[in-house]
Amino acid sequence: MIDTVPRIYPTPPARLLEPLVIGDVLVPSRFFLAPLAGYTGLGYRLTIRGLGGLGLCTTDLVNARSLIENRARSFELAETCPEDQPMAIQIYGSVIREMTEAAKKAVDLGATIIDINMGCPVNKVVKTGGGSALMCQADAATSLVAAVVEAAGVPVTVKMRLGWDDQTLSSPALSRSFENVGVAAIILHGRTRAQGFKGEVQHDGIRATVEAVNSIPIIGNGDVRTIHDAERMLADTGCAAISIGRGALSNPFLFRQLAHWAEHGDPGPEPSFEERVDVMDQHFHALVDRRGDRLACLQFRKLVKWYNHAIRPGKENYHKLINLASVQVFEDAVAQIRANGPTSALPGHLEPRVPVPSGPIDKW
Ligand SMILES: Cc1cc2nc3c(=O)[nH]c(=O)nc-3n(C[C@H](O)[C@H](O)[C@H](O)COP(=O)(O)O)c2cc1C
Repeated sequence: MIDTVPRIYPTPPARLLEPLVIGDVLVPSRFFLAPLAGYTGLGYRLTIRGLGGLGLCTTDLVNARSLIENRARSFELAETCPEDQPMAIQIYGSVIREMTEAAKKAVDLGATIIDINMGCPVNKVVKTGGGSALMCQADAATSLVAAVVEAAGVPVTVKMRLGWDDQTLSSPALSRSFENVGVAAIILHGRTRAQGFKGEVQHDGIRATVEAVNSIPIIGNGDVRTIHDAERMLADTGCAAISIGRGALSNPFLFRQLAHWAEHGDPGPEPSFEERVDVMDQHFHALVDRRGDRLACLQFRKLVKWYNHAIRPGKENYHKLINLASVQVFEDAVAQIRANGPTSALPGHLEPRVPVPSGPIDKW
């Protein structure tokens, strides 16, 4: 049984059913997967693409220098395949030559779109002058973006925040400059760097950016976990599409529910127990196919809390999965979970369970 109550859903805006083009790339839905480093790798992307409703996926951020130096880790992060289209490879850095070379390499690796990271708040990225630090240097950032647009030969997008802090809300002016040098869309997390992941997403800040550009799509991002959140984001900001990170991880069915809402006004049936177990099964096997047994088991342990929440596998099976040591143990646990069914009522609303950095932002 699924523990859910009948809900009333808001009317979806008509633009959700209109085609969306980024540069020359036709995106099949206006609901995108936002990059979540450590979670949104190829295995996860393929798993949720199969559930439907997803427009565009973006890789975790890839260090431009590491990519041009052919470091194995950056190839893992940039990995894609024909079933993973359309997709953006996200690169970060502040050195023009590295960023243009990395963009070309990313296109060779299969990127349909190049996304430049200007939102990352963590020190490792900011101290190199990349991520959200670029938002403080309008001229340098615009030159960098113009050079990447020129080099890439595919549409280029920028993912940014509203600005460094409330005193420097640079996203409207920057977005307009970027549009003038050929950027095809902006993905905008409605918080400043100073906010980190705390406080409200500022819909008025996203609206100011929507109003500042001429015609490129602005993709709203931040704290969208439900149909109601999506509707508010679309209505308050006028954004063209929505990018969803943590909400998708907590509810992999969210894209198909949003797409159903866009067409029919409601999310359709709740995902069944079998579907939830199927997603877990596919996700694990996608990790095994890409990373091999040992690494897949280690990576999967990070995700078990969520699956525990979504499928209620019972203590014994949870214990096996959280300490997962082999593919065989996984297969045995899944067979038992399928045979037993859920050990308590399944939650209708799937809660986010993604840890974010906390404490003073200067120490991140
Ligand atoms: C664990 C984690 C990793 C993230 N990694 C990236 C990243 O690699 N690139 C990026 O542009 N944003 C990254 N973000 C930011 C998200 O893409 C997104 O902007 C933010 O989480 C707000 O959206 P949400 O509330 O839908 O998750 C990350 C966020 C989290 C929590």
